[in-house]
Amino acid sequence: MLTTRLFPRLAWAVTGSGHYLRESLELMREQPNADLFVSAAADEVVRMYRRTGVTLPEHTRIFRDRTASAVPVGRFYRGHYHTLVVAPATSNTIAKAVLGISDTLVTNVLAQAGKCRVPTIVFACDTAPEMDTEAPDGMVKVYPRRIDLENVERLRGFEAMTVVDSVAGLAAAVRERTACLSESSS
Ligand SMILES: Cc1cc2nc3c(=O)[nH]c(=O)nc-3n(C[C@H](O)[C@H](O)[C@H](O)COP(=O)(O)O)c2cc1C
Repeated sequence: MLTTRLFPRLAWAVTGSGHYLRESLELMREQPNADLFVSAAADEVVRMYRRTGVTLPEHTRIFRDRTASAVPVGRFYRGHYHTLVVAPATSNTIAKAVLGISDTLVTNVLAQAGKCRVPTIVFACDTAPEMDTEAPDGMVKVYPRRIDLENVERLRGFEAMTVVDSVAGLAAAVRERTACLSESSS
C-alpha cells in the first residue's frame, strides 16, 4: 500500500498566492508521506493570513527558500519523490517556469522535477479574466492579464505536466495520481 511506504514521497510546493491558499494547504494536510516546499513569498503570505486560520502544517517536513542554489532540489535527483504538486501557483512562478527560469526554491523544484521526469500537477490560480479572490481582509476582485492566461496555456504543453484550475480539479488530479501509484505498487 502506498500509504505505508516512506519513499518515494509526494513533494508539495506552495507559492505566495492568497488565491486558494487555504484550500490547497487543507488538501496538502490530507496527503500521507508528503514534504512541503515553501517559496519566500509564500512564507510571508501565510503569515498574513494566519489570523484567518491559514497556517503551514506542523508535522510535515518543510523546506524553505534559504539558499541561492535551491539545495533541497537534490532530493529529486535521488528519487525521493514520485510526484510534484505546486498548489497554489502564482502567476510569477508560472511565468518563470514557462520561460525556463529557475531562481527560487519553487521554480527550481519545478525545473528539476521536469528534468527528472517526475509527474507534476500545477494548480494555476490566474485562469479566468475576472476572479473573486481571498485577500487577508476579505474577498476582492482581480483581473488576470492576457500574459497570465497565456502562460497557463503554455504550461499545459510541458512534458509530464497536468495543469488544473479548480480545487475540485486539484483534488481529482491528486487522487488519480495516488490511485495510479497504488495500482502499480500492488
Ligand atoms: C496577501 C497577498 C496575496 C497574494 N495573492 C496572490 C495571488 O493570488 N496570485 C498571485 O499570482 N500573486 C499573489 N500575490 C503576489 C505574490 O506573492 C508575488 O508575486 C510573489 O513575488 C510571488 O513569489 P513566488 O511565486 O516565488 O511565490 C499575493 C501577495 C500578497 C501580499
